[in-house]
Amino acid sequence: MIELGGGSLLSQMEALVHDWDGSTERRYCHLANASALLCEHLERVIWVGFYLTVPGTERLVLGPFQGKVACTDISFTRGVCGLAARTKQSVRIADVHQIPDHIACDSASQSELVIPLFSPSHDVVGVLDIDSAEVGRFTEEDQRDMEAVAALLSHRLWT
Ligand code: SME
Repeated sequence: MIELGGGSLLSQMEALVHDWDGSTERRYCHLANASALLCEHLERVIWVGFYLTVPGTERLVLGPFQGKVACTDISFTRGVCGLAARTKQSVRIADVHQIPDHIACDSASQSELVIPLFSPSHDVVGVLDIDSAEVGRFTEEDQRDMEAVAALLSHRLWT
């Protein structure tokens, strides 16, 4: 896990989200800060944020993020975010141009990492989406680290 001045990224994330009050407003509040923390500390990324499942559907809608304006609606049947949501697996793409189904919100995006977030009953409540302008930016270790972050956020904000 990435080490920061004030401890690991995971412990800083825990400090940001541990006191969720159960409201949708504060879930968004904590996810906004989570995206800011990730953006501040991940190197060579151009977009970090969340797409959240519209309850009772298989559609994702844009949530808190850092980066350029992005597409607002993604079906579970489309794109890398949709792939992660429908398979319930994280997806690490070294070169998005090799993925015909990739949704290009920003033409600068070259590689991407998408991690699902889960409710206690293992429904996908959203995804964490991270994009880079560098081909092959994300390693297996990055994937494991971001899976740990997503698990923490799921546990703290969807109880
Ligand atoms: N890359 C995503 C679309 C969202 S943007 O990257 C912010 C996808 O193909 O699902």
